[in-house]
Amino acid sequence: MSRSQILRPIKLLKRMQQKMDSSSLKRMKDGESIIDPKSTVGGGVADVYGEDRATEDQLVTPWTVSVASGYTLLRDPHHNKGLAFTERERDSHYLRGLLPTAVSTQELQVKKLMQSIRSYDIPLQKYVAMMDLQERNERLFYKLLIDNVEELLPIVYTPTVGEACQKYGSIFKRPQGLYISLKEKGKILEVLKNWPERSIQVIVATDGERILGLGDLGCQGMGIPVGKLALYTALGGVRPSACLPITIDVGTNNQKLLDDEFYIGLRQKRATGKEYYDLLEEFMSAVKQNYGEKVLVQFEDFANHNAFELLAKYRTTHLVFNDDIQGTASVVLAGLVASLKLLGGSLADHTFLFFGAGEAGTGIAELIALEISTKTNIPVEEARKKIWLVDSKGLIVSSRKESLQHFKKPWAHEHEPLSTLLDAVKAIKPSVLIGTSGVGQTFTKDVVEAMAAINERPLIMALSNPTSQAECTAEQAYTWTEGRAIYSSGSPFDPCEYNGKSFIPGQANNAYIFPGLGFGLVISGAIRVHDEMLLAASEALASQVMQEHYDKGMIYPPLANIRKISAHIAANVAAKAYELGLATRLPRPTDLVKYAESCMYTPNYRSYR
Ligand code: NAI
Repeated sequence: MSRSQILRPIKLLKRMQQKMDSSSLKRMKDGESIIDPKSTVGGGVADVYGEDRATEDQLVTPWTVSVASGYTLLRDPHHNKGLAFTERERDSHYLRGLLPTAVSTQELQVKKLMQSIRSYDIPLQKYVAMMDLQERNERLFYKLLIDNVEELLPIVYTPTVGEACQKYGSIFKRPQGLYISLKEKGKILEVLKNWPERSIQVIVATDGERILGLGDLGCQGMGIPVGKLALYTALGGVRPSACLPITIDVGTNNQKLLDDEFYIGLRQKRATGKEYYDLLEEFMSAVKQNYGEKVLVQFEDFANHNAFELLAKYRTTHLVFNDDIQGTASVVLAGLVASLKLLGGSLADHTFLFFGAGEAGTGIAELIALEISTKTNIPVEEARKKIWLVDSKGLIVSSRKESLQHFKKPWAHEHEPLSTLLDAVKAIKPSVLIGTSGVGQTFTKDVVEAMAAINERPLIMALSNPTSQAECTAEQAYTWTEGRAIYSSGSPFDPCEYNGKSFIPGQANNAYIFPGLGFGLVISGAIRVHDEMLLAASEALASQVMQEHYDKGMIYPPLANIRKISAHIAANVAAKAYELGLATRLPRPTDLVKYAESCMYTPNYRSYR
């Protein structure tokens, strides 16, 4: 870019300011102010923008220069490279003197930052360091995350992000994402237009009512959409500028937050019923109007009464996806499909028992039933009979049907009532036990031993988060089953040893699925999410588990390979979208894996002219 191209907008800006200055000068002469506009304020710098001399009740224009060069370029996270600007770039972009002499490479920057991040003992400090980096140098942030995914995932996402949300008020520096509150009712379309990017492909939205296992964090839930979208880019390859985090602020029922003078959200009890659904309706319509039919809206961490309803309401009119329900289901199904290699038989040959019948539990149960039904051609109602759920009142059975929430009703099978999990294990004799209750240490020694007595290789998934809420630890599962369990959890556990044999516990991390699934929807231009796409995502993930992984007891592939895994998931999902006639990006590329890989965002620095 030539210097004259850069100077043109600056000259234009100055002319406009002069115009403003002469009219404001006149007003001042008329008695509004007696300060000489040519006076210098703040260390001898002329007050060209009129900001310093303006009184608090006067209006000023927040001028910015739109072409990034020099100091502005260093402050622009999308283009900043810090010390990695080359000598030539430093000359052509007016950076001389603004940086110390050393010229670094991106690899060296990664090495230095990883050293610095590893020097912090407290995960939250690491989180803050990562967020600062994201605001300073976006490409370096993603490079760090992609190159060190296993180490940094627990920092930018669960479990550390949960603590970050709890303390969001105090670590909040710059607003990230878009806040839409009840105050914006009637103006949501205008609010969307305030966002600087136009071509949005993925929105992650939360209302903050059920953040991870931490409950209602109101407006502070913003950490979740921000974190999830960072993973969409790092793991799935969606461009950062195409991602939009949104918090829908309808108040909070968290009294501690309402009493906190530093709380950043709407200070009122949560809106419910018509008021809530009207705001959501306006939001969903505005999103479609502003970004079109192909923008993906991922609902995240809504309380389960709203989560089911919103998904059911919008899945036929919008491209929507609920990670807590559908993403969880898909990742768990992938683990089950993969473990068939160790267990033998097909899914239809197994009996499943869930402890916890909420969003995660019923979502997983439904997808297992669908997979069985698809594979065996039996009706889904019939397939559900292989699946049993226990909630806080005991086994879900037909005699409880009247009092059950609607999403539990399909699981009310004929059986005598049983109140404890141990009784249910003994009576149902499941081969697979899945914990989705949010209550830790509920797979007791008795329960796990009962599973081991019934099965040669009991499959135990302790999915509740965070780590302290896992139904049992990896070590307990291996010890109580004498090393026979196939174990996986929601939160990560370290490798363990039993009788001289080492085991690597699998982690049913949603991050395996949603970035690739979302990317598949984006690259095919899909307009709806169909359950068969979730099955396609699960199968693609399961196919990435190799013998070397099985040998270590793993039923998920290592996260270090996640970009390759995501490309396979995206390709399988896109293929399903084309097959179902839901894809709009035509013609269909022949090699979808290659196509997905070629579309993925890469964080390496670009050279500036
Ligand atoms: P939810 O609140 O929708 O459901 C919890 C269910 O557990 C309810 O049916 C409730 O009745 C039942 N429950 C609670 N206490 C119980 C008790 N003492 N005995 C028996 N049942 C009890 O919550 P959601 O979204 O289903 O999440 C549940 C857990 O699963 C959370 O800890 C969450 O972190 C975890 N999860 C794990 C995922 C993963 O590993 N990839 C993904 C999503 C959720």
